Amino acid sequence: MAAEQENVGNLKRKLAKLFQLSLDATVPGEPDIEPQVAACTAKFGDYQCNNAMGLWSKIKGRPGIEFRGPPAVGQAIMKNLPQSEMIESCSVAGPGFVNVVLSKNWMAQNIQKMLVDGIETWAPKLSIKRAVVDFSSPNIAKEMHVGHLRSTIIGDTLASMLEFSNVEVLRRNHVGDWGTQFGMLIEFLFEKFPNFEDVNETAIGDLQAFYKESKQRFDVDAEFKDRAQKAVVRLQSGEQMYRKAWAQICEISRREFDQVYQRLGVHLEEKGESFYNPHIPGVIEALTNQGLVEESKGARVIFIEGINIPLIVVKSDGGYNYASTDMTALWYRLNEEKAEWIIYVTDVGQQQHFDMVFKAAKRAGWFPADDRQYPKASHVGFGLVLGEDGKRFRTRSTEVVRLADLLDEAKTRSKAALIERGKAAEWTEEELEQTAEAVGYGAVKYADLKNNRLTNYTFDFDQMLNDKGNTAVYLLYAHARICSIIRKSGKDTEELKKTGKILLDHADERVLGLHLLQFAEVVEEACTNLLPNVLCEYLYNLSENFTRFYSNCQVVGSAEETSRLLLCEATAVVMRKCFFLLGIKPVYKI
Ligand code: ARG
Repeated sequence: MAAEQENVGNLKRKLAKLFQLSLDATVPGEPDIEPQVAACTAKFGDYQCNNAMGLWSKIKGRPGIEFRGPPAVGQAIMKNLPQSEMIESCSVAGPGFVNVVLSKNWMAQNIQKMLVDGIETWAPKLSIKRAVVDFSSPNIAKEMHVGHLRSTIIGDTLASMLEFSNVEVLRRNHVGDWGTQFGMLIEFLFEKFPNFEDVNETAIGDLQAFYKESKQRFDVDAEFKDRAQKAVVRLQSGEQMYRKAWAQICEISRREFDQVYQRLGVHLEEKGESFYNPHIPGVIEALTNQGLVEESKGARVIFIEGINIPLIVVKSDGGYNYASTDMTALWYRLNEEKAEWIIYVTDVGQQQHFDMVFKAAKRAGWFPADDRQYPKASHVGFGLVLGEDGKRFRTRSTEVVRLADLLDEAKTRSKAALIERGKAAEWTEEELEQTAEAVGYGAVKYADLKNNRLTNYTFDFDQMLNDKGNTAVYLLYAHARICSIIRKSGKDTEELKKTGKILLDHADERVLGLHLLQFAEVVEEACTNLLPNVLCEYLYNLSENFTRFYSNCQVVGSAEETSRLLLCEATAVVMRKCFFLLGIKPVYKI
């Protein structure tokens, strides 16, 4: 686990500390037993310690051990648990589970403390200072497609979770801005626009179409192909006109990408493949001097244990490739940028590539032998986006789906739904636009994030824009409803926080309170295991718990109004932090 320092909000860690003391006292001869603490799934308590059974099989039969089975070990663990204001009661169940019921006063106080001190006090504390998240990373002159949408959305969430944990994140857009395709693009540009330097995106129009057209030429016209291949060499040797044309094509592409990022509210810093070019020879030389690089079929390669194909770092024509760049980028991130955790977000199809790059780096001694230690690299893979027909998502013309069109449609549809609810009469046009955008884009993002990223998911507007079920629409409406409850009370929550007191007497209040308190451990899990769906599931359950509370506990006008308004506020605060981490803009009225 990455979080080594104390995290004040994390219940599981707090309990684990107590159980550590108890385990040390229960079996003094076994100093390194790690406490296994988990939230309870059954009704016996809030948390449980699961060490008794494993510990028993370890110590039974040893001289001096007086326990007569795991339940007795459980009893001893319970007896040795230090006094704590956190715990109301304990019990041992079944084969030796030690169940803990938390003190509701303690719970209430901690929720209130978060309201006063801010949700940042519940942030994970990781042991690293700087990370790279390599995400989005589309290719120049090719349209961003839904695969890049997934990378952008997932990567942004991971970066935000790390930032929330006080890690400095280098948000890297590793755009494909180098490679043989540029020869053909440049030649085509020269041909179509003799004054290429004045050319802008309006003249070129759709870069993707431009790419296609030039590719067609390349495939059928041998003379053009020959020129294109020579152009690559001239570009790589730094010939000015070629560099200029290249820069121009990159710039036009960049502007297109930026529009999508702006709409999604995602921030990235571009360091494309070309950035690493000057460093490649040095890195390959160092690897060669270490004896890692071998000659194979004319190419220079690194062999990796357990994988039957080697990692090609210099092609047989002497050129560099995707892997040469990735080895170099990794080297740069470790040595120049001093990143301790380097995270790559791409489709699972690239898993083997990254596996090989990481293993080669390990052979070179760039990473410690123990995988749990930093610096380390992780590949965050994700599955395909499928259409409603269950096949790879495409439009009717079997083209790749343009990202901008998807966002447009999501917004249009959510706007139509708002108008249907009569909002056009109630709101200003600006409010309508902003809400439609927040809900529409939020729906696209949430539909992507809520599934385990490794599974394929079906892109379905009707489903993602449904206001019932596990969708952003439902969650955003739930948040807006909470805000409206608070507004209608006419009370100032800033004031209530300081003067009022939270009580968790009703069973549904207690369930909601416990769920709120579990935010800290859930974000930590989502962040350290790189799984945004864990946070989505938490958010959905929070909403469900709130709904149950609200149906069974009268808020405004009740004797418990102050406490319940504070619970509403705490729920809204936690929901907003979840939305923020998931890249979703909250809405405040609906
Ligand atoms: N441009 C690549 C693609 O579209 C993704 C790059 C991922 N990052 C990396 N360092 N290789 O597939």
